[in-house]
Amino acid sequence: MDRTNPIGFFDSGIGGLTVVRAVTQLLPNENIIYFGDTARVPYGSKSNDTVIDYSLQAANFLLRKNIKLLVVACNTASSVALKDLKRFLTIPVIGMIEPGSRLALQESKNGKVGVIGTNATINNKAYSHQLKKLSPKIQVYEKACPLFVPLAEEGWIENKATELIAKEYLTELKEKEIDSLVLGCTHYPILRDVIQKVIGKKVKLVDSGTPAAKIVEDYLNGRGLRNISNQLGKREFYVSDIPTKFREIAERFLGRKISHLHKVDLDELINE
Ligand code: DGL
Repeated sequence: MDRTNPIGFFDSGIGGLTVVRAVTQLLPNENIIYFGDTARVPYGSKSNDTVIDYSLQAANFLLRKNIKLLVVACNTASSVALKDLKRFLTIPVIGMIEPGSRLALQESKNGKVGVIGTNATINNKAYSHQLKKLSPKIQVYEKACPLFVPLAEEGWIENKATELIAKEYLTELKEKEIDSLVLGCTHYPILRDVIQKVIGKKVKLVDSGTPAAKIVEDYLNGRGLRNISNQLGKREFYVSDIPTKFREIAERFLGRKISHLHKVDLDELINE
């Protein structure tokens, strides 16, 4: 394995870019390859078997690009497919649930943690299991917020409808007096401002991106795999469909132009 090999990331769509942003802020010289399965988003309402199939296809696509490390930049895939990915891949695989849970426990002072995520993440109780494993007395209140994903994909960031939907979803968590809220879907940090406004300023929002980036850094340092080039890393983006707004939202969110955006045929993903 070479230090200059890229780090691979995948998500169902645009959400994993929130993790890419955290990693590239911390490790600007690393080359990265991102795959967003925009033709098949959302993953959160699909069965576990389907999410496992899609995740293995995404991972195999990235492996063919010689990645040195895989970041599962999707909480749904991390909840459902992490075990299979770790079993089948010979490179290290980093998921979102453990880093997000550890940070939530650090942030919470009153022991009441809220978690929002897709139907799959919430129904599989990925965060409550992990949080209780780390801290058995913690009280966890979970709520699926599936409409946040299409709103983020559409770029409806400052929008009255988004605020109304956020109120509908978050009011019951507010009543539980949580003091920290895990954004348990990588799309949700895109809607961070509206979520913060609705849940209130006193509640800390927890995003797995930053602690996951730290794990990536530690791993690369530990194995001597850190890219020591002093040039900004190359960033390549692959999607299974190019939605009209992908480039615009991605560039706005990452704060820089995307020069390598390619479409991958689903046949190529499925048949390889
Ligand atoms: N961004 C994803 C997650 O973190 C998936 C959203 C979806 O496709 O439903 O769960």
